Amino acid sequence: MNDQLLEEFKSNLKENEFSYKATHRAPSNIALVKYWGKYDPQIPANPSISFTLSKAFTDTTVFFEPSKSPEINLKFEGEAKPSFIPKIQSFVDRIGVYCPYLKGYSLNIETSNSFPHSSGIASSASGMAALAMAICNLEAKLSGSEVNLKKASFLARLGSGSAARSIEGPLMSWGFHKDITESSDLFATPFLEAHPIFNTYQDAILLVHKGVKSVSSTVGHNLMNNHPFAKRRFAQANDHLAKLLTVLRGGELDQFIEIVELEALSLHAMMLSSTPSYILMQPGTLSIIQRIRTFRAETNIPVCFTLDAGANVHVLYPVENKKRVIDLIDNELAAFCEDRQYLLDECGFGAK
Ligand code: DP6
Repeated sequence: MNDQLLEEFKSNLKENEFSYKATHRAPSNIALVKYWGKYDPQIPANPSISFTLSKAFTDTTVFFEPSKSPEINLKFEGEAKPSFIPKIQSFVDRIGVYCPYLKGYSLNIETSNSFPHSSGIASSASGMAALAMAICNLEAKLSGSEVNLKKASFLARLGSGSAARSIEGPLMSWGFHKDITESSDLFATPFLEAHPIFNTYQDAILLVHKGVKSVSSTVGHNLMNNHPFAKRRFAQANDHLAKLLTVLRGGELDQFIEIVELEALSLHAMMLSSTPSYILMQPGTLSIIQRIRTFRAETNIPVCFTLDAGANVHVLYPVENKKRVIDLIDNELAAFCEDRQYLLDECGFGAK
């Protein structure tokens, strides 16, 4: 929208409609095929697919106040957090060209997470998705239309790549892939052809290491530039996604497990072989992985693990195996978690 259109837009609105409050809840997500490596502006080096979660979420309210000298204020869990503002400011600057109406507003943001602060669960996906939804809500109000979820995903991506996948669910792919019609590097799209077993898939997040990780995802993505295995890794991710699409349609859990675990280990293999190399797994991470594999071999219960860029382990399993898996966690795996802490999450349908 250009400036003249914006002025016309505003003159069509009543004065008291300029202030606007938008409240959104957006969940976190866990990738099955990992996004690791990117190009400017937030273009993924390979496509990815994730389960949208439901219990690990961010709640965000944005008060849009008309202003001639717009500013951003932010409260996190009820307290002013000036240290969060530069990241939000650069996000708002970055999306300005797609949301020109924003330059007439100050943003007073109040945000909180459902998961404990410093639990090691990344909040950038849920946080950026909730903020993008609030902005698209304002846009819908100004233009008298519905919230555009594709645009919300597009904007969320510019805040944090994985956030693009938190807008809808339970399965979201992001990044061009030859086997996914309408796939795009610019926004994520729901994968609607999955076997019903995946609609209720469970994710127990085992908190092996709470607190800030030693190397951020931003640094990790950058280390994929000039990584000796980058080209092969991006090809592998494309190949894994092609295979996983078939498995997701058919519900073959043995193959699901094989691909998902290999993806998690390949992600960490990239970290182990970067220059400089680094290790985000902890001894407890490996102990949990070994025990999950032993339990699976002994019981035939289709439980598997995945990892994000950290030490925590996501334990994935069909809902019908919930009791047996929770027993496994309580009896064996919780011992490797900080304060024996874990969160029981499950697939969900995205931002509200
Ligand atoms: C390992 O989305 O956090 O979780 O785009 O720099 O914000 P930025 O990175 P981010 O990276 C996520 C990496 C991952 C894999 C994934 O979620 O696909």
